Amino acid sequence: MHIAILTGAGVSAESGLGTFRDRDGLWTQFDLAEVATPEGYARDPAKVLDFYNMRRANARDATPNAAHEALGRLGAAHDMSLITQNIDDLHEQGGATGVIHIHGSLFEALCAACGHVWPHRGDMDIGDACPACGTVGTVRPNIVWFGEIPYHMDEAVAAIAAADLFVSIGTSGTVYPAAGFVEIAREARVRTLELNLEASGGRFDEVREGPASEVVPAWVEELLAKA
Ligand code: APR
Repeated sequence: MHIAILTGAGVSAESGLGTFRDRDGLWTQFDLAEVATPEGYARDPAKVLDFYNMRRANARDATPNAAHEALGRLGAAHDMSLITQNIDDLHEQGGATGVIHIHGSLFEALCAACGHVWPHRGDMDIGDACPACGTVGTVRPNIVWFGEIPYHMDEAVAAIAAADLFVSIGTSGTVYPAAGFVEIAREARVRTLELNLEASGGRFDEVREGPASEVVPAWVEELLAKA
């Protein structure tokens, strides 16, 4: 059985990384137009780099929770495509491999001048030079901002349309194109399941509500027991 999974911030919430649209969410504390758009970066690059330096430090200190670890076990036993909107590396720390990061990664840098991408786990400073073209003042996190095209979409959509089961975990289903994945699954006659703190309102065949650290391991153990 091929399982295509989409995760969002809710899967990392219990690792202390918070979410975007819940009470006290990131977008209630910061104006996303200022820190998560190309226009915001053009206006004040240092402010944007500081925002992601803070998020990268939080992500470096975070540890995977039972949901990340359960998905790591599932991937070891099943044909699984793990597509995430998250820019942390907790799925990898939890044992998942081949994770499809459609919104990029906090731990990669991108040169806005030449497009070079390189691993980067420390703070970023606007005075950093691109290791490929040497330009200074164009370093940014390799993260997809609002108004930009998500990465690996062909691979993600193909995996969902070819799956036997599509599972959405910890996402509000409000940001496209990921929010449309459940409809792609339904059109391809793929069974759909949502595991979320509370139902997001998307059209799923089945919804199991609860914290990811509880509902995800329970669902994975159920699947592995059938294998
Ligand atoms: N367990 C499971 N689900 C949870 C938990 C938890 N402990 N805590 C919160 N949730 C759920 C919420 O109910 C909500 O449906 O996680 C979801 C979080 O929704 P958002 O904050 O909108 O995060 P997400 O869906 O990942 O946002 C999508 O928006 O801002 C952009 O690029 C950013 O990737 C992000 C995208």
